[in-house]
Amino acid sequence: MKTIMVHSIHRGEGKTKIAKELAGYTQMQGNQVLLADLDFITDPHSRALGLPSSPNLEDLLKDIAEEAKNNPYFAIHFSEDRLSKYLLTHNTGLKVLSSENAKYLADDEEIAQKIRTVVRNLKQLPYDMLIIDTDSSNRDYNQVILDEADHVLIVMDNFRYNVKDLILYLHKLQDMDYSTENFKIVLNKVPDPVQVTIEEIEKESGLPVIGIVPVLDKTYQPSADTENVYLNVADPNNVDFINAIKKILDVL
Ligand SMILES: Nc1ncnc2c1ncn2[C@@H]1O[C@H](COP(=O)(O)OP(=O)(O)OP(=O)(O)O)[C@@H](O)[C@H]1O
Ligand SMILES: [Mg+2]
Repeated sequence: MKTIMVHSIHRGEGKTKIAKELAGYTQMQGNQVLLADLDFITDPHSRALGLPSSPNLEDLLKDIAEEAKNNPYFAIHFSEDRLSKYLLTHNTGLKVLSSENAKYLADDEEIAQKIRTVVRNLKQLPYDMLIIDTDSSNRDYNQVILDEADHVLIVMDNFRYNVKDLILYLHKLQDMDYSTENFKIVLNKVPDPVQVTIEEIEKESGLPVIGIVPVLDKTYQPSADTENVYLNVADPNNVDFINAIKKILDVL
């Protein structure tokens, strides 16, 4: 199983959109994919994909907390059968661990260990790919996901302040002895020509830019009532968008 973390330095860069479309596209190509929404701060995938709001991450975390009364976190193993009870199924067959807003979890002193337990258990499942959506904070619970992921995709645009913040973020991680070797940049929207060029981004950050996802044409956006179950990659009209998603997956 290949594990891909979708992350960003700032909010609203398009993590959820890209995570969902990468997962949906891979699933539609005949693979078994699991999309885990480990963002309990913002927009739940249950809504993004028109799935019910439960079961969800919060249920799984509660059961992990129960198990942790008798076992250390590293020894908590859920069987495939048991884990599957927390997953939802999208109409493409994509499996989703959804998440509702549960901001209080960020104050849980053991949240990082719990999230690590979630990811380690998900990684045991017999899927081809695990895609993890995150929030944009630089918190301990996101750092454990960095540890567990095979690839970390940083979703951003090419604005100067964003590139600067990326470099600061990378330095901070490197100071803490995190490897950033498996980090890759995905530009969500075609680079603004007056901002930083791709060559400059790669040189300054040391990370490869592996994809440029165009902003979707409004005419091919779902209407309000179908937005829920909609995947942009499922609409053949979105030629450039689909090609961009495909190109990213080719690198991973
Ligand atoms: N390539 C794109 N084309 C059109 N709309 C997009 C694109 N990328 C993102 N959006 C829209 O921009 C908004 C923010 O995107 P999204 O929710 O994916 O960001 P995020 O990084 O997950 O945000 P948060 O940090 O709050 O979790 C959404 O309404 C999304 O539909
Ligand atoms: Mg999001």
